[in-house]
Amino acid sequence: MTANDPSPNHLQLTRDGQLRHFLTLDGLDRELLTDILDTADSFIEVGERRIKKVPLLRGRTVVNLFFESSTRTRSTFELAAKRLSADVLNLDISTSSTSKGESLSDTLLNLEAMASDMFVVRHSQSGAQHFIAESVTPGVAIINAGDGRHAHPTQAMLDMLTIRQHKGGFEGLKVAIVGDILHSRVARSQIRALNELGAAEVRAIAPATLLPTDVESLGCTVEYDMARGMKDLDVVMMLRLQKERMEGALLPSEREFYRLYGLNQEKLALAKPDCIVMHPGPINRGVEIESAVADGPQSVILNQVTNGIAIRMAVMSMAMSGQTAERQQKLSDTGEAAQ
Ligand code: CP
Repeated sequence: MTANDPSPNHLQLTRDGQLRHFLTLDGLDRELLTDILDTADSFIEVGERRIKKVPLLRGRTVVNLFFESSTRTRSTFELAAKRLSADVLNLDISTSSTSKGESLSDTLLNLEAMASDMFVVRHSQSGAQHFIAESVTPGVAIINAGDGRHAHPTQAMLDMLTIRQHKGGFEGLKVAIVGDILHSRVARSQIRALNELGAAEVRAIAPATLLPTDVESLGCTVEYDMARGMKDLDVVMMLRLQKERMEGALLPSEREFYRLYGLNQEKLALAKPDCIVMHPGPINRGVEIESAVADGPQSVILNQVTNGIAIRMAVMSMAMSGQTAERQQKLSDTGEAAQ
């Protein structure tokens, strides 16, 4: 890996391939993704203890910087950091000096000056976290909690953990992602993860207006008809219509979208009988999913939320460990004693 590497791995991996930032799943191989899943598995038990804490990030400071709204991601990152014994600062962007015109870089510089060790960042601009990782002080880890339409890597990894728990693995699995794929950072990360982990087929089901023009190049087949698309599925992953990112009328109406692409019991019955139903949330009942399905026996939507804590514990502990290893390597290269 070099600074000219077209993948972001020169940024997110150490020289010996350990995670040091977590920006995207692009370029991360099956071995590393499996390592994240296995590490998360080992943290699930921590959440079942009476005292839900391990000391892996004791003395470290994690800053949650969410420039877009969030319920699940922000809460589970905070819980994950606390379960790792870190000190956690949640900056309230709406009352921060961002509202007085302070730039992202200056906000970061000031928070770095408070000896922060890790920033968990959600931003509406694709690539914002990549930009931050390029300039952040060595030793400080950047974790992407969703950037624009680009990537939501911890969401995809908690989805993979949930699939592995319910299906035992990925070989032979037929998985569909349904709905607003055009605006979805989640779908891009899911498609990447499913392909790398060996799913047999990733199927995008959506109207043409809600698909990126190059969707097949992401690593999926395309189906415009939901009834045909549901056939033989092991997993169906629904997506929310991201109206806040839509420019112009991409749909005749929400009602028409629900009729054609909303997941109800009738459409679910066309998949395999043990097909699981997933959704990253927030769900819009009666828009992309029927309540009887969202709350039904095949739904694993709340399992996904629970798994978010273990995955985020895994990613944060691995990135901090990579940063520490790299720092020690640099000290050893320069002949100084490691602290
Ligand atoms: N899945 C997800 O990112 O949800 P939030 O927007 O609530 O974090």
